[in-house]
Amino acid sequence: MNGYEHKDVLAAMGITVWLTRKAAAPDAVAAPVPPVPSVSDTPPPEPVSTPAPVARGAADMDWGALEYAVSNCTDCRLHRTRTQTVFGVGNRRAEWMIVGEGPGQEEDRRGEPFVGPAGKLLDAMLQATGRARGDVYIANVVKCRPPGNRNPDSAEAASCAPYLERQIALIRPKMIIAVGKVAANNLLGTDVSLARLRGKVHRHPRFDIPIVATYHPAYLLRRPEDKGKAWADLKLAMRQ
Ligand code: URA
Repeated sequence: MNGYEHKDVLAAMGITVWLTRKAAAPDAVAAPVPPVPSVSDTPPPEPVSTPAPVARGAADMDWGALEYAVSNCTDCRLHRTRTQTVFGVGNRRAEWMIVGEGPGQEEDRRGEPFVGPAGKLLDAMLQATGRARGDVYIANVVKCRPPGNRNPDSAEAASCAPYLERQIALIRPKMIIAVGKVAANNLLGTDVSLARLRGKVHRHPRFDIPIVATYHPAYLLRRPEDKGKAWADLKLAMRQ
């Protein structure tokens, strides 16, 4: 399972793995059994359960384990309001990876990124570069829909980051297109405005992969007059 151990997968499912005393500590001498407390009316304390953040183990996961971990993830509060997780879609050997912000209503319903109105425009933008949707890999900073389509906050993005990092590590694309400020800021670890990030080729701080930031297609639906600038960004990416 490519370093991601069976026990980790079980832990991710919330299944406690019991080991026999012998397996846990082969040389241990059996500890004295404490006396059983007498039955009283006091209810037993609530079990304290702090599930280990699943995303932390993502760095060692293969595609199957990663997809499984994401679909069962409860590391941040977004899991409480999602219909389902939205893992990512496309060619796992793609040269181009498109990174958006997070699933919207339609994506949450269908379990696939960029399938709503913004997705239609993204498909058209890709087509303009000579690429079909299936030629690239599409993923988001967060895998669960932020309620009301708000931006994911920094804790949510940080908690989900190991999943996106692992997707990037497994694909090793030649180019990452960050659509929108949230994607660009999270990929580059900065808070700089999109206006200042556009028009340049950045490099992923960890993987050294070129990143071009451009407008989010949802923004372009509201401000079609900026489509020319987005096209200039895509041409910049094509030249790399
Ligand atoms: N907006 C995004 O950033 N991602 C999606 O998947 C859909 C809309």
